[in-house]
Amino acid sequence: MKKPLLAAVLLTLTCGAAHAGSAFTDAKDSVTYRQAAFQLIRHNMADIADMLKGEVNYDANRVTQRATALATLTTLPWQAFAVPGTEQGGGDAKAEIWQNLQDFNSRGEKLANDALALKAAADSGEQAEVRKAFGAFARNCKACHDDYKN
Ligand code: HEC
Repeated sequence: MKKPLLAAVLLTLTCGAAHAGSAFTDAKDSVTYRQAAFQLIRHNMADIADMLKGEVNYDANRVTQRATALATLTTLPWQAFAVPGTEQGGGDAKAEIWQNLQDFNSRGEKLANDALALKAAADSGEQAEVRKAFGAFARNCKACHDDYKN
């Protein structure tokens, strides 16, 4: 009885899982993925912003934790824009992305680099450094949204 059960489980897993060579089942799945990544970026960023504004107590360890998360999270959305058909997958991405994919990806890369600089500032423990790096990091969001997001 064990074998058929295992086969059934594997079949179910495979059907729900990604196509070979991709983390995504289809274009719509890639949109869900990148939107989820952006949401996590927003949450982690907002916590640092609240601390810098003094709305909650400044906690250097928590800033480091958030900045460390951002350093990884900001590398995630971009591959989900390269899935075939993803421009028709819904979401708020403008068609201009795929007409200027090199520019779009380099802006994504800059965001990730600025997140690394933010993490380095957080590691230094200097709040003034964090403030400066955070400002540079945050400028990327609106600049890209103005050009590439509905
Ligand atoms: C290189 C371009 C680019 C940069 C930089 C960028 N975004 Fe976005 N963002 C997009 C695009 C494109 C979408 C629309 C994605 C979609 O709907 O498929 C988006 C969507 C979002 C969303 C909505 C996600 C949802 O659930 O629909 C949030 C929140 C967001 N971005 C936050 C941020 C924050 C915060 C930053 C800066 C730290 C940032 N983004 C930087 C391009 C960018």
